[in-house]
Amino acid sequence: MFPLHRGRRLRVNESIRSLVRETSLSPADFMFPMFIMEGENTKVEIPSMPGILRRTLDLTVEEVKELFALGIRAVNIYVKVSDDLKDNTGKEAWNDNGLMQRAIRAIKAACPEMIVMPDVALDPYSIYGHDGIIEKGDVANDATNDTLVKMAVSHAKAGADFVAPSDMMDGRVLRLRQGLDAAGFHNVGIMSYSAKYASAFYGPFRDALDSAPKDADVDTEPVEVPKDKKTYQMDYANRIEAVKEALWDVEEGADMVMVKPGIAYLDIVREVKNAVDVPVTVFHVSGEYAMIKAASERGWLDHDKIMMEQLMCIKRAGASLISTYFAKEAAILLNKK
Ligand code: PBG
Repeated sequence: MFPLHRGRRLRVNESIRSLVRETSLSPADFMFPMFIMEGENTKVEIPSMPGILRRTLDLTVEEVKELFALGIRAVNIYVKVSDDLKDNTGKEAWNDNGLMQRAIRAIKAACPEMIVMPDVALDPYSIYGHDGIIEKGDVANDATNDTLVKMAVSHAKAGADFVAPSDMMDGRVLRLRQGLDAAGFHNVGIMSYSAKYASAFYGPFRDALDSAPKDADVDTEPVEVPKDKKTYQMDYANRIEAVKEALWDVEEGADMVMVKPGIAYLDIVREVKNAVDVPVTVFHVSGEYAMIKAASERGWLDHDKIMMEQLMCIKRAGASLISTYFAKEAAILLNKK
């Protein structure tokens, strides 16, 4: 009690603050999400994500080596699929020679110690931009799971260290674990997007991959689909449900669980962290990145300070790992210190 205690004694200067700091950040806390496209020696900036590029495979590999040198040890990879390869089955997703599979092989060949986590979900491969197969106007859960298993095994064959199901189908973690084990991939892990909310913060990501939900013509017949993902991604009004989803995924064999998005969902991060005994990861998503970039371009926020504050707060909330488009910039800053 005051005056015996004065909280400010522990804040007098940076040295004492550094001694009592409860949370720390290092480049190994980050995973970098990367967008990959066909072609050679080409990169395109995503308009709603200044500084974030969609790269061809050759340039992706160069970037991965740079990230590794900065201390980043994991990448989440996403591919932009050409329209003529999209359909309602998503079959390009398990083409052993597809862009994703080639990307995994190329990255692992160039930088074997980089942990590669390909995204498992059908949206980049779907004519409807949905994460699974459309039947009767909605995503069919169990039929989609069958395809996700083929997709994950094909990623494992290409050399993926982890697969990262972001689709939110029920029971897919169990199916993936069984499928990977049956194919002999006991050491390929599952990082499950367990509490993934139906969020407007994913807008820029869908621009990057041209993967927003949309109607399509099938055999010249127009087919209408929901323009959001609310029948599988979670309602952002819910908290207890996130714990349920995370516990189910751990029971089904998830090695790590994820909460997504980040900053507006840190109560969920802590709740899940307290409930599970596996590492909790957080996706600091595209819209969160875009907000900081836009406000700092206008001079309204201090870019580097806001970036570090948000990353530290995500870690403090309970994240073991943060998937963030700021990974490279933040690693460079941390390495300077
Ligand atoms: C697709 C997927 C999405 C993100 C990661 N995987 C978009 C979506 O669910 O529509 C979003 C990532 C981001 O916004 O940065 N399954």
